[in-house]
Amino acid sequence: MSTATNIKRIAISTGGGDAPGLNAVIRAATLAAVNRGWECYGIREGFNGIFFPERFQDGGLFQLTRDRVRGIAHLGGTILGTTNKGNPLKYPLKMPDGSIREVDRSNEILEFFAKKQIDALISIGGDGSLTIAHALAEKGLKVVGVPKTIDNDLDKTFTTFGFDTAVSFATECLDRLHTTAESHQRVFVVEMMGRYAGWIALHAGISGGAHAILIPEIPFDLDKVVEKIRMRDGVGRVYSLIVVAEGANVIHGQRSVMEKAQVGQAERLGGIGEKVARVLAERTGKETRTVVLGHLVRGGSPTSFDRLAAMRFGAAAVRALDEGFTNVMVSLAFPNVQYVPLEEVAGRMKSVPLDSDTLLTGRDIGICFGD
Ligand code: F6P
Repeated sequence: MSTATNIKRIAISTGGGDAPGLNAVIRAATLAAVNRGWECYGIREGFNGIFFPERFQDGGLFQLTRDRVRGIAHLGGTILGTTNKGNPLKYPLKMPDGSIREVDRSNEILEFFAKKQIDALISIGGDGSLTIAHALAEKGLKVVGVPKTIDNDLDKTFTTFGFDTAVSFATECLDRLHTTAESHQRVFVVEMMGRYAGWIALHAGISGGAHAILIPEIPFDLDKVVEKIRMRDGVGRVYSLIVVAEGANVIHGQRSVMEKAQVGQAERLGGIGEKVARVLAERTGKETRTVVLGHLVRGGSPTSFDRLAAMRFGAAAVRALDEGFTNVMVSLAFPNVQYVPLEEVAGRMKSVPLDSDTLLTGRDIGICFGD
């Protein structure tokens, strides 16, 4: 295939938390590039392969060939490795007095691309990585972003890859908890990832038959959840499943944070499940257990939906470069993939709209949202 843009060599980087489907993007992008006669390279661990080549046996950059990407589309994780520490725009540099200062290392990335004669970057990541991708593109690097996150909180795309796998697994967990909760007449509080958005909790909660779903978009009042549990008890349904998104919080309350944000690193959420469980146990008198799904929802093979979406994204990213696009993200706008400017995505979060029909479905079937 001819290239309108004279691209000969591209590199791929995966940044932020991993998500099922990363390897499928890498495979599709590599094959689409190789089939155009381009060379394709993988950068190790986000941009660590550029900043710390000495840490890697292959110098932090390795060629992605047809052979190298054979049989990886169904594998979780990323063969490139990833990191959610050390944002190049706000890199944490240790000063001689032990303090940490933020520095912008993005120029080193541009210099690396020039030195290695790599013409373009495919950056696969969530909001953080795509904001970095946008900054690099603004400085003149050809960049196409691919939307990845289990949280589904990226704007301008119907969905991100990784989300469907996370929801499917979380749903299966709820299915399993119903039986043990019912046998023991217990309340189970199930904490799920998702950062500041409630997508995973909402979708898995409805699919998995939760009786209450608490999400960041709807600050909750636990008395409403207590009422729901008592109402169920009153009609002989003596167990309840309560799904809590890690970023949910009580009305006028604070988010539950496990670890504060540090330079170049976001805060770590968690712990809300146990807090909710304690209050519910006290107020209902029922035996209560907490299950934190945590990183389990991020592992394993991508579902066929995520695998196909990831492969479509990977191939589309190469097509975008071939067609002369840069500073864009490939996105899903059913039935097709489209390109959207990175500036419309960077730094914007997609929350669950309060009028979404999924949320309304939950309300219509009697799920309590704590409001
Ligand atoms: O963004 C993906 C995600 O899994 C969030 O849902 C979660 O809050 C965070 O990453 C966890 O990050 P870490 O892997 O650093 O614990």
